[in-house]
Amino acid sequence: MKNFELLCLAFFCTTCMYVSVAGYRPVIIVHGILDSPKQLSGLARFIAKSHPGTEVIPVNMFNYLASFKRLWKQVESIKRFVYPIMQKAKDGVHLICFSQGGLICRGILATLPTHNVHSLICLSSPLAGQYGDTSYLRHFFPRYIKPRVHRICYNPLGQRISVCNYWKDPHQENRYLKGNNYLPLLNGERAHSNILSWKRNFLRIKKLVLIGGPDDGVITPWQSSLFGFYDSNENVVDMKHQNWYLKDTFGLKTLDANGGLHQCVFSGVRHTSWHSNFTVFRDCIEPWLT
Ligand SMILES: *[C@@H]1O[C@H](CO)[C@@H](O)[C@H](O)[C@H]1NC(C)=O
Repeated sequence: MKNFELLCLAFFCTTCMYVSVAGYRPVIIVHGILDSPKQLSGLARFIAKSHPGTEVIPVNMFNYLASFKRLWKQVESIKRFVYPIMQKAKDGVHLICFSQGGLICRGILATLPTHNVHSLICLSSPLAGQYGDTSYLRHFFPRYIKPRVHRICYNPLGQRISVCNYWKDPHQENRYLKGNNYLPLLNGERAHSNILSWKRNFLRIKKLVLIGGPDDGVITPWQSSLFGFYDSNENVVDMKHQNWYLKDTFGLKTLDANGGLHQCVFSGVRHTSWHSNFTVFRDCIEPWLT
């Protein structure tokens, strides 16, 4: 009997060791505009099912209308929330960031020198900017049309609204570079004193996964989710022909050269369905959550 108990104990300990060795890294989820963790619960369920025991932490901040607050403010607050989680996770964490959340996550990674994010998964994020008057924009500027939005966005008052922080009017490049205090800095389109340290910080990630598709309906152009954007004639120029890639302004080219960049394009997925589509999860999120 004694031996049997010992055997059980030994078995249990090996199991414990196995679990801690093969355990999954915690996953932090950052929601998008006019959302809260509630809308992303499908994603959390997928993770729980495919990787049982994973700690999934949705960021329950800047929900709904508060998601319109300027992005630097959101970055600073969310950073204070996620940093202790990172410190506790000695093997690092993963970040899944939806839509506007992808830009928040990049702001955090650029400005947090000691982060330990392993995979950064950007789910249909306007990473190269947004130029399309979709419903969430009309929420704020009901009477404005696309070519005129720059007038309100590229000044200090407009910059207090998140959407203006990544509004990129391809016909107003100078105004964008001067008047937008978020995206041109993050993408290194405008020179600033922290550009090298931000790049170094960003490059602590091991994997950048970009997910998007032509039927998104909100991100405009949809290729912005893959770092492509309009030129001044509104033709889409893909990531590899953009200055931020060619000049490696924030680390994208380095990451790619090291095999750390992965892109997935899915058709037939509307913007609000990305996080509840199991095919998307199985093919392009789950593989990077180990
Ligand atoms: C889920 O993704 C697949 C693969 O792209 C797509 O064909 C399908 O239409 C999507 N379903 C929904 C409900 O979005």
